[in-house]
Amino acid sequence: MSIRPILLHPDPRLKKVAEPVGAVSNEIRVLAEDMLETMYDAPGIGLAAPQVGVGRRVLVMDCVKDEDAPPRPMVLVDPEIVWTSAETNVYEEGCLSIPEQYADVERPAEVEVRWTSLEGAEQSERFDGLWATCVQHEIDHLNGKLFIDHLTTLKRQLITRKAVKRKRELARA
Ligand code: NI
Repeated sequence: MSIRPILLHPDPRLKKVAEPVGAVSNEIRVLAEDMLETMYDAPGIGLAAPQVGVGRRVLVMDCVKDEDAPPRPMVLVDPEIVWTSAETNVYEEGCLSIPEQYADVERPAEVEVRWTSLEGAEQSERFDGLWATCVQHEIDHLNGKLFIDHLTTLKRQLITRKAVKRKRELARA
């Protein structure tokens, strides 16, 4: 397993629609393990393959907040939202590709997602709370969409300007 570098916004690779995986290969299993390690190391609660520069439909997440509770690392291959609740929730979201920037985003409060496991099995689950927000945020990444794309143009430009400045500073360091 290894930690992979996380792409920072703005980056054209974060704006591309990721390709379906289909049959799960060993390469995808290694990618998923690396993504989990990268996510826990960051630390973060979700990570999508495009964020490590791989344009495939794979995401990982673990939204267990209680430090005494066992972790629940999840890997979703080719995830698809098959149902969304009419009720919505607002969470303050952040993103490992846009460090230190946070904003409220409104999304469906509950979603049912269908995906393929690393063992190639069809799975589905209904997510709520933080899990629902996280899985929608990560599926957005697979569609080339960032949480700031849910904000007003003004807010998005403000965050993007800060991100550009931060990237420039990092490049110089
Ligand atoms: Ni993100």
